[in-house]
Amino acid sequence: MGNNRSQYLARQKAFWNVTDEKIATYQRIYADGTGSEIRCRTHTQQSLAHILEGIHPQSDWTLLEIGCGNGRLMLELSRLFQFQRLIGIDISESMISFARKNLAYDPRVELFVNSGCDLAMVQDDFVDFAYANDVFIHLFDYDIIVGYFREVHRVLKRNGVFRFNINRFDPDTAFGNSLGGRFAKFMYRCGLRSAGRHRWEPRQGTGFHGNQFMIREIRHALKQGFFPVAEIHPEDIYLWCTVRKIQ
Ligand SMILES: C[S@@+](CC[C@H](N)C(=O)[O-])C[C@H]1O[C@@H](n2cnc3c(N)ncnc32)[C@H](O)[C@@H]1O
Repeated sequence: MGNNRSQYLARQKAFWNVTDEKIATYQRIYADGTGSEIRCRTHTQQSLAHILEGIHPQSDWTLLEIGCGNGRLMLELSRLFQFQRLIGIDISESMISFARKNLAYDPRVELFVNSGCDLAMVQDDFVDFAYANDVFIHLFDYDIIVGYFREVHRVLKRNGVFRFNINRFDPDTAFGNSLGGRFAKFMYRCGLRSAGRHRWEPRQGTGFHGNQFMIREIRHALKQGFFPVAEIHPEDIYLWCTVRKIQ
């Protein structure tokens, strides 16, 4: 692993490793500033419904959440559906310890801390449906993003589906109409500059920062991750992406 990448992942681990569950929940996972348990619960239910649109988990399925946090989506999923196995993976030891506490009673659940850039604990061709909610939006390095796509491709069964959201880049809203702004729009539109291909460097921020993609850029990244076809829907500041393992 390159030196920049290990530095970035060490800083990300430190950022997400919050020891107090309330702070982890309301200042990292659901940071709307209200600290409201009811709003967080409603948001969890809405997020899960969105993730599962058109997906009908079956009793023999293996499901995978990348960046599962305290397990709030996994808990909701486990209340609503029958499945064989639900695997949660996260870069943060403390997030996984909260998820272990919250999901302890459920023998179908397996939880792992990972390196922040691979799915080494999951075997090839094993997962029916994988998802990542509000995780890729915080990845600030193109190689890590594409590396994850390749890993997801490896662990999915044939016809398995992966759904995730990522930050959307729109040159029209990012820049104004001054001469400089119009020049910047031109540079991004024709691909001479890109907020999606960004690779992290030590002088740059970590934490919530993440790469921002135009639709054609995320399509290209997914192709590099062996997903040649993608359904991509712009929603507010995000792109929601659904891909299927074809072979
Ligand atoms: C905003 S929280 C979302 C948690 C969960 N997906 C949810 O919606 O409730 C982002 C989660 O992604 C995890 N995370 C951040 N970077 C990661 C990485 N490189 N690999 C795996 N997990 C990561 C964080 O530790 C955190 O638990």
